[in-house]
Amino acid sequence: MQKIKLFDTTLRDGEQSPGVNLNLQEKLEIAKQLERLGIDIIEAGFPASSKGDFQSVKEIASIVKNSSVTGLARSVTKDIDIAWEALKESAEPRLHVFIATSEIHMQHKLKKTPDEVLETAVEMVKYASEKFPVVQWSAEDACRTDLPFLARIVEAVIDAGAKVVNIPDTVGFITPGDYQSVFNYLKEHVSNIHKVDLSAHCHDDLGLAVANSMAAIEAGATQIEGTINGIGERAGNAALEEVALALHVRQDFYKASTGLILPEIKRTSDIISKLTGMNIAPNKAIVGKNAFAHESGIHQDGVLKNPLTYEIISPELVGVKQNPIVLGKHSGRHAFRTRLVELGFTLEDTEANVLFEKFKDLADKKKDITDDDLLALVIQKQVSK
Ligand code: KIV
Ligand code: ZN
Repeated sequence: MQKIKLFDTTLRDGEQSPGVNLNLQEKLEIAKQLERLGIDIIEAGFPASSKGDFQSVKEIASIVKNSSVTGLARSVTKDIDIAWEALKESAEPRLHVFIATSEIHMQHKLKKTPDEVLETAVEMVKYASEKFPVVQWSAEDACRTDLPFLARIVEAVIDAGAKVVNIPDTVGFITPGDYQSVFNYLKEHVSNIHKVDLSAHCHDDLGLAVANSMAAIEAGATQIEGTINGIGERAGNAALEEVALALHVRQDFYKASTGLILPEIKRTSDIISKLTGMNIAPNKAIVGKNAFAHESGIHQDGVLKNPLTYEIISPELVGVKQNPIVLGKHSGRHAFRTRLVELGFTLEDTEANVLFEKFKDLADKKKDITDDDLLALVIQKQVSK
């Protein structure tokens, strides 16, 4: 079984979500929970970007022992030196250094030729490798990069000492088949590619971040980057909990798994949502309020007979404790009577039928029927006897 490493960037790309600004205590709390969740690599921040980021990366690096901690650096020696100061006490100091490789970024942002970019990338990977035992190199905007140039620069940074090569879809532009073609091209044209972990880093501008990450795994990526709840720059990053569950549920297809402690997912998601102030959509996969809720009568009846009829993931697997049956106008008699029994009321058939009609009238006026609503119906019925 292939192990897929999970690289969590909730504290770096995730914190780049508009409106999110975490303080030191909040970042420490998130880092500790990510460690409990079993994340392999925690990107704790961008140490050269501010004093606050430097301090939080340094403190996270000193307290986290079971995950590797990394920090981001631009391709300048100053950023690498500052990152080293922040990370040198960590269990396995790891640097994440990047440079843009697409024509549009090189020409308009960096104002460098491709050869200059290649030379800088190689110099910085060599410089960082003198300090850090693990250097990850990222080709920013890789998915809009000329493939022969991408292959040339990847070969050169591996020779320079990079241990992980990341192929980001920085602008969330690629589609799954195209992303696989990029990985396949690199595997065919980079002679030393077998020496590194290949990583995927997908943004969700077209809603394809998780699909693209899964496609990358099929094409040989052994590391997936993303955030919890899919938060991040613009439309966000790939949601790691979705990637982990897709691998878990479809192990038959992917023949790969992560080291994630799945029952910690819900708690992690809740903590991050609370501290970032980014609410989770009710229909969000895995962690949304409705992710395990069944409303239609046919579905409720099936789930009560055997949860596997409509559930591919059990709520308990990901740490969700909730009654999966939501009573509403689509609910059937079976779900209604089951809930009444759970509330302590075992009714005669005729009594249950009368109450069921009243319940249906109420459900026509009110979306979700709560336990309090049911209690009120039963009490009304008993009073009017
Ligand atoms: O999206 C991106 O390209 C990034 C890089 C810094 C890896 O976040
Ligand atoms: Zn990113």
